[in-house]
Amino acid sequence: MTDVFGLSHKDSSPVSTPMSGQAGHEQVVFCSDERSGLRAIIAIHNTALGPALGGTRFYPYGSEQAALADVLNLSRAMAYKNALAGLDLGGGKAVIIGDPETDKNEAMLRAYGRFVQSLGGRYLTACDVGTYSEDMDLIARETSYVTGRTLAQGGAGDSSILTAFGVFQGMRAASEHVFGTSSLRGRRVGVEGVGKVGHRLVDHLVEDGAEVVVCDVSERAVELVRRRHPQVEVVADQAALTAADIDVYAPCALGGALDDGTVARLRASIVCGGANNQLAHPGVEKQLADRGILYAPDYVVNSGGVIQVADEIQGFDMDRARAKAEKIYATTLKIFTTAAEDGVPPAVAADRLAERRMSEVGRIRGIWLGR
Ligand SMILES: NC(=O)c1ccc[n+]([C@@H]2O[C@H](COP(=O)([O-])OP(=O)(O)OC[C@H]3O[C@@H](n4cnc5c(N)ncnc54)[C@H](O)[C@@H]3O)[C@@H](O)[C@H]2O)c1
Repeated sequence: MTDVFGLSHKDSSPVSTPMSGQAGHEQVVFCSDERSGLRAIIAIHNTALGPALGGTRFYPYGSEQAALADVLNLSRAMAYKNALAGLDLGGGKAVIIGDPETDKNEAMLRAYGRFVQSLGGRYLTACDVGTYSEDMDLIARETSYVTGRTLAQGGAGDSSILTAFGVFQGMRAASEHVFGTSSLRGRRVGVEGVGKVGHRLVDHLVEDGAEVVVCDVSERAVELVRRRHPQVEVVADQAALTAADIDVYAPCALGGALDDGTVARLRASIVCGGANNQLAHPGVEKQLADRGILYAPDYVVNSGGVIQVADEIQGFDMDRARAKAEKIYATTLKIFTTAAEDGVPPAVAADRLAERRMSEVGRIRGIWLGR
């Protein structure tokens, strides 16, 4: 078993996350700086479409194996997300092992930045769980291969703005496919988790004339939404939300929202939300299809965030980034059409379309340009 950082003693349990994304990675780099406490892994799944872009997750993994499994899966998912977002970017991701509340420090982030720089632009970093735009500003003092910096530093800032906008575009496409109209007016939409992405999605829905029902484990988050939109209904928890009489279910909290129980309970015709990794296990996409529930693949509809930070590479322009995120509507519709034609669930159709773009566009790099 791998144990570069000598962390195994912290967690003797078997690795809980399967390394399903292990196959086919181009490069995996272990980075260590003992004095600052940095222990990071950068994984590049592929660079068929361009440099690999994906955020840095700062998380207190119980073992090195758990961190490695996570970064391999996450970097693979970024390759698919970036491909279908129409970006000329490959898939990568990084993890820093530690508690962001107690372990993060300037030297550590800057040491990490130097390792990112050492990859010569093959990997571009950004924010993820446990890292923020201010952290990217620090990392940027050591490397030019960083996005998601603060607006003050010329960055794209909070990526949840276009993530929520993109989810709304995906939901409009799903509504068009199921109800024959892209408007959500009069539809009842259940939003699970009203944090950075969820509360902005509620704004779009209310503006479009939808009735909104929400749940969140944070009373404060619910209170903030109610203050902006007093008409929004609140239910106790995810079980109540998914059993409610709703047309659309929007998971915007943590991963794994769609398990066997949720799918059996669900009364909605559409699932479309911002959370990553919504399908709890392989096969759930088929259960949804068998029940006649249209699932808008998570990594397609939540790609507005990566579109926003990727725009920073050229010098951030919110209008240009928003125009790109608007295309999530057409991409989502195409996935539904392809899925229907091929007789497969939308999640399978999305993977196929992403793989096709990586293969077909990636292939042209083989054309010799001369000297
Ligand atoms: N922020 C982005 O740009 C972005 C981009 C792509 C994907 N995502 C994904 O979207 C999801 C939400 O991200 P965010 O940035 O809004 O995070 P966030 O932490 O701001 O919001 C998550 C919200 O979910 C709530 N929550 C947690 N557990 C819950 C539960 N069991 N039931 C109901 N509510 C619960 C939290 O209290 C919080 O209010 C995550 O899965 C994230 O990976 C975010």
